[in-house]
Formats: sequence, C-alpha cells, structure tokens
Amino acid sequence: MKRTYIAETKDLVGKEVDLFGWVNVRRDQGKIIFIDLRDRSGVVQMVFVKSPEIEVKSKSAERFNLYDLAEKLRPEWVIRVKGLVKQRPEKMVNPEIETGKVEIEPMELEVLNQSEAMPFPIDTDGHDIDEEMRLKYRYLDLKRPRLQKNIKLRSEFVDRIRQFLFKKGFIEIETPILSAPTPEGARTFVVPSRINPGKFFALPQSPQQYKQLLMVAGFEKYFQIARCLRDDDLRADRGFEHSQIDMEMSFVNQEEFMALDEEMITTVAEGMGYKLKQKPFPVFTYQEAMDKFGADKFDLRTEEDKKNGILAFAWVKDFPFFEKNTEGNWTFTHNPFSHAKPEHVGWLLKGENIDKILTTQYDLVCNGFEVGGGSIRAHKSEMLEAVFKVMGYTKEEIQEQFGHMLEAFKYGAPPHGGLAHGIERLIMTFTGEEFLREVQAFPQTSSGRTSVMVAPSELSKKQLKELHLKIEK
Ligand code: AMO
Repeated sequence: MKRTYIAETKDLVGKEVDLFGWVNVRRDQGKIIFIDLRDRSGVVQMVFVKSPEIEVKSKSAERFNLYDLAEKLRPEWVIRVKGLVKQRPEKMVNPEIETGKVEIEPMELEVLNQSEAMPFPIDTDGHDIDEEMRLKYRYLDLKRPRLQKNIKLRSEFVDRIRQFLFKKGFIEIETPILSAPTPEGARTFVVPSRINPGKFFALPQSPQQYKQLLMVAGFEKYFQIARCLRDDDLRADRGFEHSQIDMEMSFVNQEEFMALDEEMITTVAEGMGYKLKQKPFPVFTYQEAMDKFGADKFDLRTEEDKKNGILAFAWVKDFPFFEKNTEGNWTFTHNPFSHAKPEHVGWLLKGENIDKILTTQYDLVCNGFEVGGGSIRAHKSEMLEAVFKVMGYTKEEIQEQFGHMLEAFKYGAPPHGGLAHGIERLIMTFTGEEFLREVQAFPQTSSGRTSVMVAPSELSKKQLKELHLKIEK
C-alpha cells in the first residue's frame, strides 16, 4: 500500500490509508485515546476506542490490542498506522487544522521508533528557551512549527529566485570555497594546507573576484546561491556564515542593474504573497539618507505597516568611495572592486579629492536591514590599481594580492556590475524575525560555536603535525 501524506486524508473519506509520522499529542480520555499524528504535511487525529463490542462490530479482533498499544505511545514516537478515514461528526470538527473534518480509525499500528521526552517544549515559539540549549538540540528545536515555516519559506524563496534568474538568461556557477582572500571588510577564516607547509587557504567572504573573472570569461549573466564566511563580531543579523544571492552581469549600467534587481525582488516577494510599501522603490543618496535618518539603513514602515507585515524597500546610492580607518588611513567604504562614479574617475586616477570621490555602489534596504549591496565595477587594471594606491598599498603589495585581477582585466574585460543579497536578512524581513539564527537550519551560537556538534575544537597531535602547526598556549 502506498504511503499517504496526512494532508491528503481530508479528501479520502471512506478510504484506507497508510500513514507514517510522529505522535504529536496524546489525549487519554479513559475509553478513548486521541492521538494526533504529524508528518511533514500536517496533523490528523486518530481515535483508539477501548470498547470490545465496537471491536467485534468492526470485525477486527486485534482492535483491543491496538488500544493497549496506543496507551503506550508517547510524544515524538515514530509510528506507522493503517486506518480508515472517517468523516467527523459535525460538532467534533476542528477548524484549526486542515484535516479537521476527518479522523482516522486505526486498523494496524506499528511502532517504528521510540523517543525520549523532549529536553524542552517544541510546540511553542521557543523564544523563551535558552539559546545554547536550543542549538545543542537544534534537530529538535527545528521541529517547532515556527522554524519549520521559516526553513520552508527560505527554500521557496530561493526556488523562486532561481526561476526568475533562469528566465532572464542567468546561469548558475559555483566558485571555490578554498581560495585566496577577498576583502569585504571582515576578517578572513583560514585553512592550513597539509601539502604546502606554512601556507593557508582563505575561505571566501564573498565570490566577488570569481564572479568578475566569469565576466572576463564571457558568461555575461552569472548567479550563485553562495555561502560566504566572515570572521566578524557576531550580532543579531550577522553570522560567521551567511548565504548570498550573488549576481553579476556584463554591459549593464547602474540604473539597468538596479531595475533588474528590483524586478526580481518585487516578483518574488509579491509571488509569495507579501505586500510592498512602495513601487518603484524610493531611491535616496547616501547624503539624503544620513540627513533624513542619520543612517544608511532605515525603516520606512509606519506602525500600521509593521502590524500588516508590509515590506518597505528602498535604494541608497552615491556613497563615498573611501573613509578613514581608525589608524587614519583611507579604506574603502563598501567594495574596493567598484567603479568610481564616472565624473570622479579622474580624481581617483590622480589620487585627488579622495574624500569627495563617490562610488557606483547601491545598497538595498528593507525594514531597517541592509538586504543587499552591489556596484558597477572597475574593469580596467589602472582603475583597480588606483583604488589600492589610495589605500596605501605599494605596487608590490597590489601585485601580490590582486595581480591576477589586474592581469585578467588586460584580456578584454567587459564593463560589468552586480549585487549580492543576504538571503537570511531577506527572510528575516519576510518573517519579522529579529535574529539570523531563526532562519538558518544550523546557526552558530552567539559565542561563535556550532549547533549540535562541538566546534571549534582542538586538533589531535597527529593532525597538528600533518598541518605543520604548533599551538602556543
Ligand atoms: P556585502 O558585504 O555588502 O557585499 O554583502 C552583501 C549582503 O550580504 C548580507 N551580509 C550578511 N548577512 C549575514 N551575516 C553577515 N555577516 C553578512 N554580511 C553581509 C547583507 C549584505 O547586504 N561582494 C559584495 C556584493 C557585490 O558587490 O556584488 C558583498 O559581499 O545583506
């Protein structure tokens, strides 16, 4: 007999079904035991009746044993039930659940696995449970309906993004995880090389350089659902690992790219049933945003909008290219690979008016979060070189760290630009969640450790030796 999903039972009155799932709730009412069975599609009520006369009437001598077995069941036991789908009496209908008009009269029950009692409730929103506990038992924490919903929503979102981009002729290309450093303003995670003593790979803060190299390679429209790793100070909306919708396109200007991205976000968000506050998205210059909101990310929603789950997107553009770091040296504000605004390229090449040079950077803001950022890029080596010169790199340092980009740009690099969205940040705005961990399956704890498994952890002496590492304590 083929497995039936619980959600399907509502249309199968009078039919026999074979159900697999977990005991959600067990209500023992003496002569009747109600068990709510749960699978990925929903919940359905099963009714185990004690009375032997009823058993005889329904011609099933084993029914009495079934009741005994049902008495033993506990929450989260895994069971298989063959049974008959019956219409519930009118006054027993439960409008709260999708299968509320039916119930299952069990005919066979098999226990596939037992379960210990849960270490914490899994039917609440979980906000009041200690974070370390939740993440230690993340595989149980993930059972709670709120997280099931968030993780499924994330999957649907990525699916819709892919559909949109494929339709527009983008192709999905993976880029390496073991790589050389790409500066995105955070510290880099490194991996020691066993076969190159004393040498290290960097984990990518983003695929920025590779996607630009793919433009040199002539793919013209690239995207990737890219894992990015940043050794940053952790915050509610910032993790060591996050995923980006990473895009790059050749022969495109700032307005064209922003319009395409806006179409993507609008199509996908509205397709998922969300309401947008304003279309087209309002555009602020960095200066306007600072004057009006005192920050380059802001929340345009009213209290009413917040209640109604409205998404308020806005663009910010015309950012300064450089700012002074704590040591008083110039550093990039967003992305060193960006093109200066065309009217400021002269200043950049001459190293003049550094504080006045604006970049082609555009950020997308939603409900107070920065949910994306991108720019038109420098596609000529002298322009990229000029950026690093402003930041105080010597010719040798530029060559050593970015020589591969300068060289690539010599071989007919097309003008190009792109953007990356933080997937978690977008899902946070969609769901109203305040923490990154509520939209990632296995997030880090706020003290920077992994869910469930113990990491970071120590290496054995043998491993350290193989990796040519010595630990100083
Ligand atoms: P940027 O560093 O602005 O740009 O990142 C793009 C978007 O990714 C999200 N994001 C993060 N989300 C969670 N945790 C983090 N630590 C984190 N860091 C960033 C944000 C942000 O807007 N290569 C460029 C993009 C480009 O120019 O194409 C880049 O990575 O939503």
